[in-house]
Amino acid sequence: MVVSRLSSSPVPEYEPLPEEAPEGAEGTDIRSLRRAAGAEVLPFRQNRRGTSPEVITQQIVVVCGPKGGVGKTFLASNLAAAIAERSKLQVGLLDLDLAGGEAGLYLDLLEGPSLQDLLPSLKGGLSQDHLLAGLVIHRPTGTRVLLSPARPELSEAFGVGEYQTLVAAARREFQIIIVDTPSAADNDLLYEALETATLILLLTTPDTASLRRCKVMIDLMKRLNLPVHEKLRVVLNLAGPSARVTPAGVQAFLGLRLLAIIGEDRKAVDTSLFEGIPLVLSHRQHPVAISLMKVANEVCPIFLEPVRPNRLARAFNIGRRA
Ligand SMILES: Nc1ncnc2c1ncn2[C@@H]1O[C@H](COP(=O)(O)OP(=O)(O)O)[C@@H](O)[C@H]1O
Ligand SMILES: [Mg+2]
Repeated sequence: MVVSRLSSSPVPEYEPLPEEAPEGAEGTDIRSLRRAAGAEVLPFRQNRRGTSPEVITQQIVVVCGPKGGVGKTFLASNLAAAIAERSKLQVGLLDLDLAGGEAGLYLDLLEGPSLQDLLPSLKGGLSQDHLLAGLVIHRPTGTRVLLSPARPELSEAFGVGEYQTLVAAARREFQIIIVDTPSAADNDLLYEALETATLILLLTTPDTASLRRCKVMIDLMKRLNLPVHEKLRVVLNLAGPSARVTPAGVQAFLGLRLLAIIGEDRKAVDTSLFEGIPLVLSHRQHPVAISLMKVANEVCPIFLEPVRPNRLARAFNIGRRA
């Protein structure tokens, strides 16, 4: 239980934020979100473009968010497809939303083996052959995908030990490992994934409930001594001018800069899901795809094409010095 980890780990003073980071609002009280709503946007320093592929070290990217429907699977599948297609690195996508994973839908991978087939070998140490036999290949990009089990009840057989075995084998196979997670903030499997991650992408939408739960999760990560400032990046999804809380307010409330702001386009995203073609492949110039590429660039800064700020980011003055 995460609670037992909490009680066994000393509760430290909160680390001071680096000078350039915004001060987080005090607590998770919603009044502090209201106060934060008037704050100024601080730009996130994007990884430098043009880094050569040789300097990319292995990345284990965990996409998480305490609320459902914020776009975790959408982001994870688009990231995997974008990086595999453009970098030629070996990319593995692990769908660990064990009771309701949908990564296969986003990539049109509806048949084939799943985690269910790997479970017996995970108990006794996973060979590379077994791992590869349990993955489905996304032909357009070469991404190898571990689909969530078709029988959700099997998720109970997959715990921290199985995760460690799986990731150890995946590390021998892939340079980029992207892990999609269920909507949760407090289970052992998730915290094991967060500990092993080299980069944590925390997704939120600009609505009050999602923001509050994210703040609670960030606070918990700090209490568990996860190096939040080094490896956590917040992505705001489904942003739009009608949202009550602006991106600046989100930053001020969470106390962390936003890595990217992804706008909302239900028609385009629903179509990409319906067709099983990630938006980053089908509509490269779409503002949502451009924002997704900005996140991909942070994971793996090898995209030589400049990532242009999209209209939404410009509207919010993100990416410019105040
Ligand atoms: N930027 C976006 N614009 C429009 N629709 C989106 C966007 N991001 C996600 N969606 C849609 O929102 C729904 C929830 O996304 P999903 O990735 O399944 O969320 P999660 O994995 O966090 O539960 C899906 O129907 C998805 O296609
Ligand atoms: Mg999901």
